[in-house]
Amino acid sequence: MTANELRTMYVNFFKERGHKEIPSASLLPENDPTVLFTTAGMHPLVPYLLGEKHPGGRRLTDVQKCVRTEDIDEVGDDTHCTFFEMLGNWSLGDYFKQESISMSFDFLTNYLHIPPERLAVTVFEGDELAPADVEAEKIWKGFGLKNDQIFRYGRESNWWGPAGQTGPCGPDTEIFYDMDKPKCGPNCGPSCKCGKYVEIWNNVFMQFNKEVDGTYTELKQKNVDTGMGLERVLTIFNGKTNVYDTELFIPIMQTLEEILEKEGKAIPERDKRIICEHTRAITFILGDPMKINPSNTEQGYILRRLIRRIIRLFKKADINENYLCELSGVIIEQYRLVYPELGKNREFILEQLQKEYHLFSKTLDEGLKKANRYLDCIEQGGILSGELAFKLYDTFGFPIEFTSELASERGYQVDMDGFQKQFKEHQNKSRQGAEGKFAGGLADKNEQTARLHTATHLLHGALRRVLGEEVFQRGSNITSERLRFDFSFGRKVTKEELEKVEAIVNEAIGKKLDVILDEMTHKRAYKEGAIGVFSGKYGEIVKVYTIPGYSKEICGGPHAKNTGELVSFKIIKEEASSAGVRRIKAVINEH
Ligand code: ALA
Repeated sequence: MTANELRTMYVNFFKERGHKEIPSASLLPENDPTVLFTTAGMHPLVPYLLGEKHPGGRRLTDVQKCVRTEDIDEVGDDTHCTFFEMLGNWSLGDYFKQESISMSFDFLTNYLHIPPERLAVTVFEGDELAPADVEAEKIWKGFGLKNDQIFRYGRESNWWGPAGQTGPCGPDTEIFYDMDKPKCGPNCGPSCKCGKYVEIWNNVFMQFNKEVDGTYTELKQKNVDTGMGLERVLTIFNGKTNVYDTELFIPIMQTLEEILEKEGKAIPERDKRIICEHTRAITFILGDPMKINPSNTEQGYILRRLIRRIIRLFKKADINENYLCELSGVIIEQYRLVYPELGKNREFILEQLQKEYHLFSKTLDEGLKKANRYLDCIEQGGILSGELAFKLYDTFGFPIEFTSELASERGYQVDMDGFQKQFKEHQNKSRQGAEGKFAGGLADKNEQTARLHTATHLLHGALRRVLGEEVFQRGSNITSERLRFDFSFGRKVTKEELEKVEAIVNEAIGKKLDVILDEMTHKRAYKEGAIGVFSGKYGEIVKVYTIPGYSKEICGGPHAKNTGELVSFKIIKEEASSAGVRRIKAVINEH
């Protein structure tokens, strides 16, 4: 099936069921100032979800272009994209759960021909704010789904929205495709990131509006908001394992291969994927009718950062930045029939790209030299200070994730909190806004990230206990869903060792230990056996977090108050990161 066949099949299916097709809106949300880009099909519909009458009626469907940067770290894996198309259907106070799930099931099984046993769904388990969604569960069972295909999760997984800080939201039922791989463990389920389950559709039952003060009020009308990922469905339907093997990416990937061949260069597969994925995203952002251009504020700054990341990868591969225009041209050609704005704005897109790389190339070489000099001075297991990272940003225009990538390629990390502090001190409000929104998981210091941070400390301690003291943190990254921990170690960690590490962390969680915060001098922290970065100034006061018997680390926090908040800990992946550095991804709170 081609992408266009899928778009048409989806929209026609819902048109035949009384939905009116509406056009894809701009990537810049007109009705929601709290986010930078349209991140879901519901975005342009916010006023109608709140009760305003839509001229198209109460049943709508569309294909909406979306940009989400919160998963930017995952780009390069099989399924995550910063730009994607969302197939959606809505009920504005019309049908609710029964009809919505019924139509989804019909489309999936009779049109996409997915055998029902390959589906897995999740439903909201309920909390103090809203009850468990027993109705959705019952409806799924009515369609023959077995108990082991239905999973109940909490607010973190099964509550959608609002897209920004306020707006319509509600419990959802997410639909996953089971890739038919073996379960990675007894608790493996749709929220697991091992790759067995791929999310393809989300049906949100919008009954609430989140207000500015954080409270939820019942909406006048009950809506349904659904979103299906075009790239993922296309991948699955065509029996592929990743989005880059679909027609959407084959032409640009092939062009990049040809360029590399012509230039006699070889680059890692992940870099190729990032180049192609980001090129598609920037082509759509530049091609949007709202005419966004690279700048230092808001959307323009995100665009700039995506472009600069590509240019850096070109530089790393030792190929000319000019090729960016060639790659962007492939995307324009490929999509312009479906998104005519790309053809119309072709000149603008290419002109802006040229401008940006001319501007950036001038400082890039110099900045890279400087960055390498900074990194040369770092000791084993060290960290690049927030101050220096900010200098690279301020003087050479190096976005923070870009510096972080440079550092991690050499096995170092960047003091992100330190950078944010410098950044806040130096920048005006709007720039701060763009940084915060772009950083997503990084800037999002909510309770879940605090818990993952505590899990990272426990993991670090457990690894040192099982593998020895050569283990030292080389990098850490936390999103609201998982932690990623890079550490020095010379070989693959065996399954038995991983199980031991996992057991130690779970033991600490089971003991419900208080996480203790002390402030002391570097010297005392060192004497007390705390691990962490000792590159601060002599006499400087540092924060030390202690989990008695398991971990003592210098760290800025924040952390969970008690290890019991983590509920459970699970390693989902162990792999090489770079020479002598291993990478572990893990999750907490699994049921
Ligand atoms: N708005 C819902 C989502 O993005 C459908 O998942």
